[in-house]
Parts: sequence; structure tokens; C-alpha cells
Amino acid sequence: MIPRIRIAHLPTPVESLPRLSTALGGPRLLVKRDDLTGLALGGNKTRKLEFSLAEAQAHGARTLVTTGAAQSNHCRQTAALAARLGLDCILVLSGDPGELASGNLLLDGLFGSEIVWTERPQRDETLQAVFKTAWEGGRRPYLIPLGASNAIGALGYAFAFDELIEQAVAVDWIVLASSSGGTQAGLALGARRAGWQGKILGISIDEEAEELQQTIASIASQASERLGERIRFEASEILVNDSYLGKGYGVMGQLEVEAIRLFARMEGLLLDPVYTGRAGAGLIDLIRKGFFTKEDRVLFWHTGGQPALFAERYEPLLR
Ligand SMILES: Cc1ncc(COP(=O)(O)O)c(C=O)c1O
Repeated sequence: MIPRIRIAHLPTPVESLPRLSTALGGPRLLVKRDDLTGLALGGNKTRKLEFSLAEAQAHGARTLVTTGAAQSNHCRQTAALAARLGLDCILVLSGDPGELASGNLLLDGLFGSEIVWTERPQRDETLQAVFKTAWEGGRRPYLIPLGASNAIGALGYAFAFDELIEQAVAVDWIVLASSSGGTQAGLALGARRAGWQGKILGISIDEEAEELQQTIASIASQASERLGERIRFEASEILVNDSYLGKGYGVMGQLEVEAIRLFARMEGLLLDPVYTGRAGAGLIDLIRKGFFTKEDRVLFWHTGGQPALFAERYEPLLR
């Protein structure tokens, strides 16, 4: 038995997207609503944190330390969970504090987390220094890596895959936003354990495909060891498309704007500007290029992130 705290609202629904499918003249589209995992506006990190937090508790942690960008969804969910469990939370955030805290950053403050600002190149170094200070100060810190993307966190998505199988929806493809890799790694592991015949395609948010494939294969292999199974994953069997990196992390381009509007206007469904907006843009573009057949059933695994829609910098969505 792998220790797990039960916090997510599961199973998350699977819904069909008939108007979007028709508008694109494409395959049958479905969505797995992991934006509805329930913890402080939901998202994919809740499933991972169920395992990370069980381990933190086993270590007697009193403080959670983690890192991300200024609008990190992972940090927001970690801060919420710390509040719920009565733990302290220190977030090492890279980027610009801005004049007003909005979106996820506003919520980080609301949950009472302490924020340490850094720049992207110094992020890991700052994280280690913050952890060390907390340790020496007797705060019993537990370090959760970027995106909770390690063997422990990925287990959340290995079990999420089982949940999808239990929902008995026939699917040929799963398409999702992939960044620190833990979500796709967990799904790849779950798919392999279930002997699933479909394909999982990660749309890379900020990394070259080769690098991300390596990361995902490595996390998936390590996660399998946690289950005592020792399944080895090769980078070459992980599908990643890096054609949609645009002008970089968090920079919303025309493709993202179009995807966010299309999902909103066709289905009343919200994508976020950084992750699902980019993955949705990739999905739409691939459909238009005839990547899928019309008979394919394509499931878009919604990983959440909508609080970032309310960050000041994404206001151009309405122009
Ligand atoms: C909304 C959202 N979608 C997708 C991802 C990517 O998940 P992962 O980091 O596990 O690849 C993240 C976090 O990085 C996220 O916040």
C-alpha cells in the first residue's frame, strides 16, 4: 500500500465536446475535467500532492517548501493543502512580484504562504538555501520539487489512469499539457500497467521534445519502482510535440488566444493562458492538419490552471 491522503474530488467527470468537434470538423472530442479536482480551484497537482503529502506526514514535516513561476498552479495548490493540514508553506517563486497580487499569487497570499522571490536561473539554488534555513531553524521542512514531478507525485496520475479505465470511455488518444513531466509520466505508467492500446501525446509547454521525453521516461521508470514493478521506459516511446513553444513560457500568442476563445465559445469551458491554452492550441492545430482520423476519439486531459486567467497580464484575451 502506497501512503496517500484523500483530498481530491474523484472521479473527475469525462464530458464530450460536441460543438467543438463539429466546429473543427474533426475527431470526436472528450475532456477529462481535472480542473475539477476540488482543492482551491482544482488542477492536476491535487492528485500528485495526495502522495507527496502522505510522505511529508510520514517524515513528520511541519513546513512545505516548493517552487514555481509567479503564477504557479502547483504552488497555489500546495499552499492550500498546507493550510488545510495546518502546516507552514514557503514558496520560492521566480519572476516579477508585480504591483498587485492577482490570480494564483493572490491565492498564495490568502492561504498564508511565505513567498521568497528569485530569478529563474537562480531558482534551484534559492530553493536549496531556503530549505536549509528552514531546516536549521527547526521548522521540519519537506521539499516538494517543481510541479511535484517526481516518482511520488507521478503516482497520482498512474492511479488517475485507472480511474479513466473504470469510467469505461473508449478513447484512442489522450492529449495533455506537459511541462515538468510528472503528469504524463504517471499516465504513461498507468497506461502500461493497464495494457492500454491508445496513445498519449504531451504538448510541451516550455521544453524541447527530446529533453522532456527523457524526463518523463525517467520519472515513469522511477514511479514504477515505487510500485515494486520495475517497468523501464525509454524516451523514444514517450510522445511529445514541441511545435507550440511560441515565444516561451507564459507568453500568450495568437494560437493560445484562439484556443481559449474557441473552447469558451463552443463549450463554455475555460482553458488557462499558460498550460491548457497552449495544449488546446496544439490540439486544434493538429486537428486542422489532419493528424487524427475523423473516427478517432480524442480525450483532452484538462489539467486546470484557470486562476491565471485572472492575472493582470492576460487581460489582452479580451482585445
Ligand atoms: C494547469 C497545468 N497544466 C499542466 C501542467 C503540467 O503538468 P506537469 O508539470 O506534470 O507536466 C501544469 C504544471 O506544470 C499546470 O499547472
